[in-house]
Amino acid sequence: AQQPPPVSEAVLHQVAASLQMHVDKLPHMPKLFGYTLKFHRNLPATTVFAYGTSAQAATVPGPTIESIRGVSTRVTWENHLPHSHILPWDPTIPTTIPKHGGVPTVVHLHGGVQPPESDGSALAWFNSDFKETGPAWSRSTYTYPNIQHSGNLWYHDHTLGLTRANLLAGLIAAYVLRDPAFDAKMNLPVGPKFDRHLMIFDRSFYKDGSLYLNYTGDNPTIHPQWQPEYFGEAIIVNGKAWPYLRVQRRKYRFRIINVSNARYYGLALTNGLSFTVVGSDSSYLPSPVTTQRILLSPAETFDVVVDFSTATATESILTNDAPYPYPTGTQPDQLMGQVMKFIIKPGAPSRPDTSRVPASLAPSQAATIVGASLTRYITLYEYLSKANLSSHLYINGKSFLDPVTETPKSGSTEVWEVINLTGDNHPLHIHLATFQAIRVQQLVDEQGFLNCMTRKNNAVACNVTGHATGPILDIPAHERAWKNIVKIEPGCKTTVVVHFNLVEQNNAPYPFDATSAPGYVYHCHILDHEDNEMIRPLKLVK
Ligand code: C2O
Ligand code: CU
Repeated sequence: AQQPPPVSEAVLHQVAASLQMHVDKLPHMPKLFGYTLKFHRNLPATTVFAYGTSAQAATVPGPTIESIRGVSTRVTWENHLPHSHILPWDPTIPTTIPKHGGVPTVVHLHGGVQPPESDGSALAWFNSDFKETGPAWSRSTYTYPNIQHSGNLWYHDHTLGLTRANLLAGLIAAYVLRDPAFDAKMNLPVGPKFDRHLMIFDRSFYKDGSLYLNYTGDNPTIHPQWQPEYFGEAIIVNGKAWPYLRVQRRKYRFRIINVSNARYYGLALTNGLSFTVVGSDSSYLPSPVTTQRILLSPAETFDVVVDFSTATATESILTNDAPYPYPTGTQPDQLMGQVMKFIIKPGAPSRPDTSRVPASLAPSQAATIVGASLTRYITLYEYLSKANLSSHLYINGKSFLDPVTETPKSGSTEVWEVINLTGDNHPLHIHLATFQAIRVQQLVDEQGFLNCMTRKNNAVACNVTGHATGPILDIPAHERAWKNIVKIEPGCKTTVVVHFNLVEQNNAPYPFDATSAPGYVYHCHILDHEDNEMIRPLKLVK
């Protein structure tokens, strides 16, 4: 199909100028008009894919699902997407192509501890009216047991080969798990005004307002469309480009989720404000950590409290300093270096702020290799074509559809030595598990190790311990939580303690048997990597 040319400089500058004018308020959930959304007052309306209980109630990000610990949530997922995609896709990577057309989808609750048939397998896709379904599809109603502790989750599409396009089109939304008694004891800021999500993503637009995803690959002889990373030219928070939020001089809780395809954000606040981090991903920290900067990879969450009563100025900009691709890419320019603006109302808050950040949050087990049942070596590679362009990315030299090699015991703890032989940082995500990096050490003679690995594909035979003797990198205190995303530094071996949560239904352990095939997955959460094929199956056994 003919597509309009990419948005011109002029249109981008128009959006840029509007940041100073801060014309758009940060919404809770932006309203859709028909199937379109105004990402910015000065941009034409954009056609999107959206979650909602009806076409009228759909939003981008989609509606936040509120759940209560111990009470399961059941959702019947239906597909009312149009017959053809609004974005280009690439049939040369393993991709779902329904015989009779339609845009397939499947929903994954990110960070959720749920049985495999409710986990949203990449092969459990379905198209409209379930006319066609993927090989792992078994039901339209998913059950989320909500047996884990309270925290921040989110849901998104997970269709084989289309994840990057489906999320880019708008299939992203938050899910909060609350534990009323426990949460009340903590006394953090509450209520829709003072406890808010900031869902951050980057998008580019055509002049007519439609979403821009390149339709020519970097390496078109191999992949006509696929590019190793998508980076948009505008920063969107809760569906608005560079918005503002008026705040009172008191504490606010922000659940910040990076729902971008590939962009990292190094976030800080101007005018002397800092973040008090209380949690990350779906877990609380044992005690709060105050810091000037937080680095979010795609899919990573930080749950922070910002105290505007300490502000000496009347505004504060949320800034971004993360290069793209991270860590060795381009530095963000003045425009991409800004995320949103807080306008701070002078004087006392409308009501006294009785919230506080307690000295200790949630009791949590220390991450240790003691008691781990097994050590696995997980090696991340990027394959280049003769022209030195990216062709695909693999884990342990294997594609997604190669037979399962990771079969941990349900409820067990393992040590994963993750070796990153690429130049990029990769956000590792393991379904069902919570995990923590405990040591990051640089590889010495990384090239020699890489050469050995491409021949033998065996980290032990290539003496990974002998190569991992370089400097040890710091793991920030606010990342020492039980996470579902761990950033894997390039040229390093990262030791990760992985706890495979036990799924329970009706208070009994979930029976793992042949019917649970194909079970779960683990993957890089840079969606362009995940789609081309930095993803592997994971099968839990009894
Ligand atoms: Cu957030 Cu497998 O995904
Ligand atoms: Cu990656």
